[in-house]
Amino acid sequence: MISLGIESTAHTFGCGIIDDKGKIYANVTDAYKTESGGIHPSEAKQHHEEVKDKVIEDALNQANLKLKDIDLVSFSQGPGLAPCLLVGLKKAKELAKKINVPIVGVNHCIAHLEIGKLMTKAKDPVLLYPSGANTQVIAYEGGKYRVFGETLDMGVGNFIDSFARHIGLGFPGGPKIEKIALNGKNYVEIPYVVKGMDVSFSGILTNLKQKYDSKKYNTEDLAFSLQETVFAMLVEVSERAMAHCGKKELVLGGGVACNRRLQQMCRIMCEERNAKFFVQPNEVLVDNGLMIAWLGILQRKQGTKNYDSIDIKPYERTDDVLVTWK
Ligand code: ATP
Ligand code: FE2
Repeated sequence: MISLGIESTAHTFGCGIIDDKGKIYANVTDAYKTESGGIHPSEAKQHHEEVKDKVIEDALNQANLKLKDIDLVSFSQGPGLAPCLLVGLKKAKELAKKINVPIVGVNHCIAHLEIGKLMTKAKDPVLLYPSGANTQVIAYEGGKYRVFGETLDMGVGNFIDSFARHIGLGFPGGPKIEKIALNGKNYVEIPYVVKGMDVSFSGILTNLKQKYDSKKYNTEDLAFSLQETVFAMLVEVSERAMAHCGKKELVLGGGVACNRRLQQMCRIMCEERNAKFFVQPNEVLVDNGLMIAWLGILQRKQGTKNYDSIDIKPYERTDDVLVTWK
């Protein structure tokens, strides 16, 4: 069985193709970027409208397949920006109808987790999922992927992007902050905000902006201190979730997981507690259609040809989804 997955929750329109054995045929993405300023939902939607046909065509070409070879179409149902999600839903319905195959809507956050398990062969991991809009520590317990810790306000990626925007860097800011942080040498004290199992970034953002505006600090030192502080917060909560659940594996997923310093800090924590640490290639860490296609395979029993019964779920939470495929 071959599944074609469409991702369109936020800035990225992606199409991936995979079969039920986990054989990867294609993974093509096109991301909306800006030189300065953040992501605007209607511009991201416009971007998706413009690139969607080409991305799907490229994926089929990369896979050396025709549309009629596809047995299942899956798409990101949520969480995400409604205007962007609707582009994916419409395109997925159109394709599925055309070749008369079932369609299945999947949860984007769980897709990050399941592709992580496929790529790393981890069996029962804790997932640290730091992305633009989301920041969660997730593990499977009692029929659901449960959220053991999460951000109380913005996702860590959006936090980094907001600070990057404030200092005149474009979107996405994460890779740019990572680069300049390499030249930071002096740790500047900024708030460290862990509340129970949760983290919060808005106060840190205000503090960092004030420090930058005061012109008393070196920008590279601020980028360095930002990373050291907020990544330590994420590692602390992940470690506690691992101890609480008695799990011995950590998988990193989500766009911010591309960051080398975060990877290194997670690796050290895992070594110290005799746990295994897994990180995936960047192209599956960021938003992509491959993970959507794979979760479609896992959820294929829920596929339907009643195309009009299916809709987007912009606010769906990780722990809303009953895991039926384990
Ligand atoms: P989700 O919908 O899962 O919340 P998302 O739509 O925001 O995710 P992702 O592709 O998972 O998209 O993550 C994008 C985020 O990752 C952006 O905020 C970007 O700045 C951040 N990012 C990418 N590379 C790095 C890096 N090297 N260091 C830090 N952050 C990074
Ligand atoms: Fe994502």
